[in-house]
Amino acid sequence: MAAIATVGYTFMALESLLVIDPYVIQMQDHGSLPSVLDVHVNVTGRSSVLRKVKSRKARWSVRPSEMSNKTFNPIRAIVDNMKVKPNPNKTMIALSIGDPTVFGNLPTDPEVTQAMKDALDSGKFNGYVPSIGCLSSREEVASYYHCPEAPLEAKPEKNWEIDLKQLESLIDEKTVCLIVNNPSNPCGSVFSRRHLQKILAVAARQCVPILADEIYGDMVFSDSKFEPLATLSSNVPILSCGGLAKRWLVPGWRMGWILIHDRRDIFGNEIRDGLVKLSQRILGPCTLVQGALKSILCRTPQEFYHNTLSFLKSNADLCFGALAAIPGLRPIRPSGAMYLMVGIEMEHFPEFENDVEFTEQLVAEQSVHCLPATCFEYPNFFRVVITVPEVMMLEACSRIQEFCEQHYHCAEGSQEECDK
Ligand SMILES: Cc1ncc(COP(=O)(O)O)c(C=O)c1O
Repeated sequence: MAAIATVGYTFMALESLLVIDPYVIQMQDHGSLPSVLDVHVNVTGRSSVLRKVKSRKARWSVRPSEMSNKTFNPIRAIVDNMKVKPNPNKTMIALSIGDPTVFGNLPTDPEVTQAMKDALDSGKFNGYVPSIGCLSSREEVASYYHCPEAPLEAKPEKNWEIDLKQLESLIDEKTVCLIVNNPSNPCGSVFSRRHLQKILAVAARQCVPILADEIYGDMVFSDSKFEPLATLSSNVPILSCGGLAKRWLVPGWRMGWILIHDRRDIFGNEIRDGLVKLSQRILGPCTLVQGALKSILCRTPQEFYHNTLSFLKSNADLCFGALAAIPGLRPIRPSGAMYLMVGIEMEHFPEFENDVEFTEQLVAEQSVHCLPATCFEYPNFFRVVITVPEVMMLEACSRIQEFCEQHYHCAEGSQEECDK
């Protein structure tokens, strides 16, 4: 993502130079040379005569572009401003970043790394390729996902299902698409086929396309089933986003894709051209990974996916069980992905204003870093990442327990509850 931002920034900087009319390069006075070398770059097609202009007062004034100023990542905005220091007597446990590579306990499959080595050794993937990806890589992704059928309220007690009436009431002239993230970060929820069909019905009724973020597709525990949204509709146009980052446990490889499901040709050329243009604005996917893609998709053994999921399921159960026993916390059992959301009964923790303060103090006292769910505009919750090694998961839960016990207060009028 950083690379994308950099390219965008350079692009904007260039654009803003071009609108200065004219711009002047000033040089130092060297004897016979004129004190000011006037170089006029006329971008409007008017006068192009070289002439002296008032000298520019030389001073450094290098400013960030408007685009960089307007770029906002809510997670970074909150987390980077958390200034607390961890407790020096406790080793740090970071349950905040959804990166399965951090602790080295969840390596990708050897088939995957072998495919990368083969792509590298072949020497065929070192150059520039089309920004939308090589045809062969795109064909691999299309055939792998081929399917013959070709700020919303969601509540944990309803498996984080969307309130469809509210959804429909929020759609207006300005609505350009519905974004559906399933399986979900941060909730770890997996929508049922029935619920997805209802979302599709709203989209069809309102003629709004869907952007389906399915990066955690097929990362679901055995008691749930992932239904790709596009398999359930033949008329709603859907852009489905996926990639290697999560299921193959290699987020640093920066390989993602968008599948276009548009059986009625509603997107037409305009949207397709727009996607191509966007792919040209940012860096295309890593060519080496494109070379390895076919093997990664087709040869990764089922056992690898199975082992990853049973590890995540087991950690989810451990974490849920441990946190459910802590007064003042309300963990929500996840069905997939790599996260677990935990409600904080704020009335029992009156010294903290909100989830940000709660999680800050948790770092300060216990060196356990969880992400305040305000980052997801879902206050009074925090998110736990469940990819850490099991012992660390248990240690983190026991420190969270110690923290809660130290800060828990009975809410007024609920003495009975506290006596339990
Ligand atoms: C919902 C969702 N979509 C997509 C991604 C992939 O993001 P990136 O391309 O930055 O790895 C993530 C990563 O955490 C995610 O949680």
